[in-house]
Amino acid sequence: MCMKNLQNNAITVLNNNWKDKFSIPCAKLYPFQWFWDSGLIAIGFAHFDMPKAEKEIETLLDAQWSNGFIPHIIFHTETDTYFPGPDFHRSDLHPESSKKYKSTGMTQPPVTGFVLEDLYRISKDRDATLKFIESVIDKVYKNHEYFYNQRDPQDEGLVYIYHNWESGTDNSPIWDDIWDTMNPPEYTFERRDTTHVDAAQRPSKREYDHYLHIIEIAKQNNYNDQKIAELSPFLVQDPLFNAVLLKSNQSLIDLYRIIGNKNNNDKIHQLQKWQDKGTKSFNNKLYDEELGVYVHYDLRNEKLLKHISSSSFAPLFANLPSETRAEKMVDIMMEKFGNPDQYLCASFDPTSDRFNPKKYWRGPVWVNLNWMLYYGLKQYGFYDIAKRMKQDTIEIIENNGFYEYFDSRKEEHKNGNAGYGGHNFSWSAALFIDLLNE
Ligand code: DGY
Repeated sequence: MCMKNLQNNAITVLNNNWKDKFSIPCAKLYPFQWFWDSGLIAIGFAHFDMPKAEKEIETLLDAQWSNGFIPHIIFHTETDTYFPGPDFHRSDLHPESSKKYKSTGMTQPPVTGFVLEDLYRISKDRDATLKFIESVIDKVYKNHEYFYNQRDPQDEGLVYIYHNWESGTDNSPIWDDIWDTMNPPEYTFERRDTTHVDAAQRPSKREYDHYLHIIEIAKQNNYNDQKIAELSPFLVQDPLFNAVLLKSNQSLIDLYRIIGNKNNNDKIHQLQKWQDKGTKSFNNKLYDEELGVYVHYDLRNEKLLKHISSSSFAPLFANLPSETRAEKMVDIMMEKFGNPDQYLCASFDPTSDRFNPKKYWRGPVWVNLNWMLYYGLKQYGFYDIAKRMKQDTIEIIENNGFYEYFDSRKEEHKNGNAGYGGHNFSWSAALFIDLLNE
């Protein structure tokens, strides 16, 4: 199919997943608004329908809690196609949660800051877009303030996540190390995801027991951040999450400067402090000399989780590694993930026994990570590898359609059924549009 038709299909996917004031990631499997999906979807809309891009962000921020927190799912509608829904999550337990929207009590990688900058980059009417940015940017600042005040118990400039669903990389093999330290009850519940998608492509029942157990602990403590920091068996400093936060910090600094109102100087100053401290700690604490990449730090059990995943390379996107480290990281990426019979970039180390190229975040290629890595590689001047990252991303979509994730093994693509998980998936369409037009 020619690129023009494929781009029109991507636009159709986004328009079909648009629900008046927000987008769903895809029908049935994910029927509500998800935090990082929403941000990345807005980047796609910005190329052909800026009012929708702005509305997407406005609705997301409308669900912000009074303490600055932004939830990972906003339950706009009632539906029984998803578990666990609002009655399980019970965001009302937190005294500062939104009174207007039911949501989860966990968050997701804070993409909003850099998304606003992307809207500005893409806009054909920058003055108008800047006005929009001016109307929402303080809410995003408040979200960052929440993170640094509530999620950084040791005052390092690095924030923790307390649940694997906060990472975005939901069932990564990295979490297996944490599941080994836990022994949750066997819960009785009815999964819905596996009625829409082959169970071989989704997390196991036992993994869900862990996921639910962590939420139960948080709920018993009314989602209080201090209590969670004290009691959650899952407490991790994630390199993807923190890289996204730092990237967004930098975007907020740049945007406040462009807005140029001197009332914002204190905010710029504060963001710069978070940025300097966070960058330093990120490079000191999350880099593993032996592996030559960034890894996760398990704050509960006080150790590095020494596994290489696509999150290990995300710091390139936020301009965090030195040139020397970046070179080493990219060598490792190409050595382990860049074999010519593989598409870039598997979500988990293809040379590990935990790698599974069909199962969600245990190996498949994801368009959102490829998109971040593409911009990161380009920023460091790795033009040839960036070009391959982009071409591979376009090719997996051309081969299969706008799926949620894709098999990394090229031979599996011959019959056009190497796309897995949800179909007509919004961010795959949105970021495809961005890659074609950047
Ligand atoms: C799911 O239900 O798998 C979602 O990705 C959680 O965010």
